[in-house]
Amino acid sequence: MSQPRPYVLLSAAVSMDGFLDDTGPTPLVLSSPADFDEIDQIRAGVDAILVGAGTVRADNPRLLVRSESRRRERERRGLPASPAKVTLSTTGELDPDAAFFTAGDVERLVYVPDAAVAATKARVGAVATVIGAGEPLALASVLADLHARGCGRLLVEGGGLVHTLFLTEDAVDEVRLAVAPFFVGDAAAPRWVSPAAFPDRRLRLAEARALGDIAVLRYLAR
Ligand SMILES: NC(=O)c1ccc[n+]([C@@H]2O[C@H](COP(=O)([O-])OP(=O)(O)OC[C@H]3O[C@@H](n4cnc5c(N)ncnc54)[C@H](OP(=O)(O)O)[C@@H]3O)[C@@H](O)[C@H]2O)c1
Repeated sequence: MSQPRPYVLLSAAVSMDGFLDDTGPTPLVLSSPADFDEIDQIRAGVDAILVGAGTVRADNPRLLVRSESRRRERERRGLPASPAKVTLSTTGELDPDAAFFTAGDVERLVYVPDAAVAATKARVGAVATVIGAGEPLALASVLADLHARGCGRLLVEGGGLVHTLFLTEDAVDEVRLAVAPFFVGDAAAPRWVSPAAFPDRRLRLAEARALGDIAVLRYLAR
């Protein structure tokens, strides 16, 4: 990617067999309270948090900084209390009542293919900025637009399709994996990434650390 783009930090919690969730009706809890707190700290240090529309629908995440002191610290630095929220969708089939749109007083950006802009605006245009990013959607356009809007650091929190997209487009600078000490063992559950053509090189292991019973692995792409 030659256009300027934000520093991209990809974060996921996985089971020992590499799943992001099980197939149950509620999201599988893979992280511990200490791990959630570290993620909260990471959230507080970025300009925007991105998840796929699949995660918006499946998990209904709020994507806000939880800690009051971290929110205040951001405001002291002249930033909004929580980072902007960003999602990608091919269809624009998003519920305006989802927590992505209703929680927190922050900017919300929805990137869709150009052909889906009108329909997406009709659905969520009152609660978010809808942006066409090519036909089909080009991740490079999304990242260039985010950069132009002042996003210097982007946290990508899932799910599997979006992680696969960022990795195969070689648009990741850092990966934080939290590995929970149990197995999901269900082939129908979502995997961290799908089979795809990933960049043919090794990442650099920058950190491997125990956080209670969670293994925190941090890799740098370059
Ligand atoms: N453990 C963790 O850390 C973690 C974190 C997040 C999520 N999860 C889990 O991950 C699962 C959801 O993952 P997922 O893979 O199904 O969904 P996802 O990656 O969150 O979102 C996939 C959706 O993103 C949109 N999208 C993907 N690529 C696109 C492209 N090139 N252009 C435009 N839009 C694109 C599409 O939206 P449309 O369908 O609207 O077209 C697609 O269906 C849930 O089970 C959730 O619990 C786990």
